[in-house]
Amino acid sequence: MKFAKCNGLRGEVTVPGDKSISHRSVMFGSIAKGITEVHNYLQGADCLSTISCFRKMGIEIENRGDVVLVHGKGLRGLTKPTAVLDCGNSGTTTRLISGILSAQDFDVTLTGDASIQKRPMKRIMEPLSLMGASIESVNGNGCAPLRISGRKLHGISYTSKVASAQVKSAILLAGLYADGETRMTEPYLSRNHSEIMLTCFGADVRTEMEAATAGDSVSAATADSGSATAIIQPATELHGNLVEVPGDISSAAFFLCAGLMAPNSEILIRNVGINPTRAGILNVIRDMGGNITLLNEPTGSGEPTADILVRSSSLHGTVIEGAVIPTLIDELPMIAAMACFADGTTVIRDAAELKVKESDRIAVMAENLTAMGADVTATEDGMIIRGGRPLHGAVIDSHLDHRIAMTFAVTGLCADGETEILGAECVNISYPQFYEDLKHLIK
Ligand code: S3P
Repeated sequence: MKFAKCNGLRGEVTVPGDKSISHRSVMFGSIAKGITEVHNYLQGADCLSTISCFRKMGIEIENRGDVVLVHGKGLRGLTKPTAVLDCGNSGTTTRLISGILSAQDFDVTLTGDASIQKRPMKRIMEPLSLMGASIESVNGNGCAPLRISGRKLHGISYTSKVASAQVKSAILLAGLYADGETRMTEPYLSRNHSEIMLTCFGADVRTEMEAATAGDSVSAATADSGSATAIIQPATELHGNLVEVPGDISSAAFFLCAGLMAPNSEILIRNVGINPTRAGILNVIRDMGGNITLLNEPTGSGEPTADILVRSSSLHGTVIEGAVIPTLIDELPMIAAMACFADGTTVIRDAAELKVKESDRIAVMAENLTAMGADVTATEDGMIIRGGRPLHGAVIDSHLDHRIAMTFAVTGLCADGETEILGAECVNISYPQFYEDLKHLIK
């Protein structure tokens, strides 16, 4: 896939459904009683892996494209799969499903692709074991394949070193089946889609926030918060529900940044989920001087959405650290590339989690931005980007990481000469129509 400098991006785009919310709708729908109807389910490979895993455990799931119907069988309705469960490239599938499987009355083996088999699973193995689960790494390296034998679980009070919605959700899902209250404390509040959706499905879950910590450079609704504790009570049953999946802000991020970076641009992005635990990129953009306007923000409970209008802007550097990091963790590759087009220095810190995503995103971003002529230093927990140098095209190795491929497609539109993305098809993980939607906006 090749890209050359464009003369601006103009028009409207509707990004596909949110990946995190799509996964959860099928998982929670499968262990709820009755039908869960999901609108705007993300038809990316990761979310299809989740559907396939639950079908293998006896759940009927009708995937009609625009609507997915999950015929849930209740908390105790899953059946032992006849084969290994393949989670593909999806960390969310692997970690969240482990919480559910820890409490079933059968044993199962979970695996995934080469990237999944390198990603850390001890972060869920430890708390789930403390709850009484039998969960082991088949190769003894703390990674998938995982062998899980369901057990009777106990409620625990667990403190995680990392702010991680995947760890939190695995513990909360196991907590549904435990014999008492389960508490999970994380250093900062991570995305809270599980808490919101589990509440809609009838679970008793709440969050307690610790007092604020000072010194964060970018203010978000959550950025002045300290640690957060999610608390769940055991459930007798969950009830099927209607789930409207908003557009994925992590997919919208590519158009937001493209519109800011490319001169002569104006893009309207429709129906984007702006849950404050996900929307840190909007605060960073404002902090960098970016011109964005939120329109049509319906009021109501659940997952908030807005249309977002973005225009070319002259940007300046910023510092991104602390509590805002979990609210934009998946957007940091695109933000780092955008920082190359800002005046001054951008510092990203407290983001060591980037090293254990679908690729080592600190190393891969530094390698590819440097290849395009940027002045970037990789650090232990982030990057230092000295903006303002013109970028030139290069051959980009995506390392089969969807967010890296999309980041450099956008960056290629703002660089001199030609940029070629290797492994470009990996965008099918979260945004199969990405290149079509991007090309549609190019003027
Ligand atoms: C996700 C949580 C985040 C994020 C991932 C999706 C989720 O991971 O990076 O893309 O759906 O819960 P961590 O929980 O590991 O931070």
